[in-house]
Amino acid sequence: MSTAAGERNDADRVLIFDTTLRDGEQSPGISLNRQEKLEIAHQLARLGVDVIEAGFPIASPGDFQSVQAIAQEVEGPVICGLARTSHQDIDAAWNAVRDSGRPRVHTFISTSDIHIEHQLQTTREDVIGQARAAVAHAKQYLDDVEFSPMDASRADVEFTAEVVQVAIDEGAMTINIPDTVGYAMPRELEAFLARLYELVPDLRRVALSVHCHDDLGLAVANSLAGLEAGCRQVECSINGIGARAGNASLEEIAMLLHTREPSVGLWTAIETTEIARTSRLVSRLTGYQVQPNKAIVGRNAFAHESGIHQDGVLKERTTYEIMDPTTVGLRSNSIVLGKHSGRHALSEALREMGFELDGQALNTAFKRFKEIADRKKQVTAMDLEALVTDELREEITGYTLDWFEVDASSLRPPHAKVSVNLPDGSAASGSFTGDGPIDAVFQAINAATGVAAKLSDFTIGAVTEGQDALGEVSIVLEVDGSTGAGQGVSTDIIDAAARAYLRALSVAVARSHAGGAIGLPETI
Ligand code: KIV
Ligand code: ZN
Repeated sequence: MSTAAGERNDADRVLIFDTTLRDGEQSPGISLNRQEKLEIAHQLARLGVDVIEAGFPIASPGDFQSVQAIAQEVEGPVICGLARTSHQDIDAAWNAVRDSGRPRVHTFISTSDIHIEHQLQTTREDVIGQARAAVAHAKQYLDDVEFSPMDASRADVEFTAEVVQVAIDEGAMTINIPDTVGYAMPRELEAFLARLYELVPDLRRVALSVHCHDDLGLAVANSLAGLEAGCRQVECSINGIGARAGNASLEEIAMLLHTREPSVGLWTAIETTEIARTSRLVSRLTGYQVQPNKAIVGRNAFAHESGIHQDGVLKERTTYEIMDPTTVGLRSNSIVLGKHSGRHALSEALREMGFELDGQALNTAFKRFKEIADRKKQVTAMDLEALVTDELREEITGYTLDWFEVDASSLRPPHAKVSVNLPDGSAASGSFTGDGPIDAVFQAINAATGVAAKLSDFTIGAVTEGQDALGEVSIVLEVDGSTGAGQGVSTDIIDAAARAYLRALSVAVARSHAGGAIGLPETI
């Protein structure tokens, strides 16, 4: 065990396998376009993750192209594509990641009887055969093959061991043990892994990984149990997004190992100061807000409301803070631009923040910056980040806002009129008298687009503190049973709400046209 930086040894290094763009993208309502996925992947590389699971290439041509673009552009981490056991899946995954300097194919099949009987409707013998054939097929293309026995934590350990042994014999270099439905408890997972090591001594020759879901709120605790049992790769996602209740949260695992390193003795290569920014980027692009009290990245994670706590922190920070907020990249907001700042200053500020913008993208960002700077005295790094991220979303948008007008008064119901650009390039207008000005705008958008969207979630926030802060609105809505999420940023909260609504509408309509099939096929 190592106790301090400098004495660290490689055997205690934990590899961070990020699945934000694969398992995370499976969350209801999330549908990231290629540009958004690339932006997240670049930020994950800055964060220092070891592996990016970039998607499931067989799922759709869009998924394939996004994984391929990440493999071609993003340097540093291993770029991984997910595949079921069929040759077709593995070929798609390989073709999508082959341009990466460090490609990986991750193939999986369930080993629990519940899945084998009811979902796969096959036999244990067949599962062994499929696992063997899948790993062997992938190994024809590349060395770095990962294998997961899905739903392992509910499976018979002896049978899972048999399948894992076969995967190792065929050349799998990483074996990942998923708690697919978030059912395990830490001591059970630890015992399962200990038994697996006994049954498969060859596991010591490969990397052992753990992949936990949060259905019972135990994903991080179970991941830690996995690491304590010997795993040296942990699969996790930013803000813990993922199927159902989500995956283990990357930021919680990274800060747990960082803060408690003297006791746990394990370390990661995560650049912790990039955590807050990565969390904001993922939240904005997915439309999934972070709960205020979320560990590490929630708005209140470092807020002290109680007088006793405030008093303590003012006297000595460590009285009530176990982590310094600057360690996760919070409270660093040094960049300030004003309305006289030019294109060069903007481009330099963006570069300092890691955004390389030029040509049309820089022109658009500059135009948006000027609009904001005219209304707001100081434009900070947080504002710029929100604006640039907001612009990135344009590509996904089928519907965009042309203009809106609202009559609001406490004496009569508010009336809104909107003009919306439709996906076919034409414009349509609509009007509505609603319960409130924002409701009137939403209903007017429904009238203009002819889509009967139902709002299911609406949140307003501010990008920074202060009266002239940019407003940020998040929306989740439903169209014919398909959900869409979107966010919008503006100095005018009604404008931000209209932008968010149109983005969410575009995603939901696209999903309903695709029969809800954006993302992973029904079979996993
Ligand atoms: O949760 C799970 O089992 C998965 C596998 C594909 C690894 O996401
Ligand atoms: Zn999963």
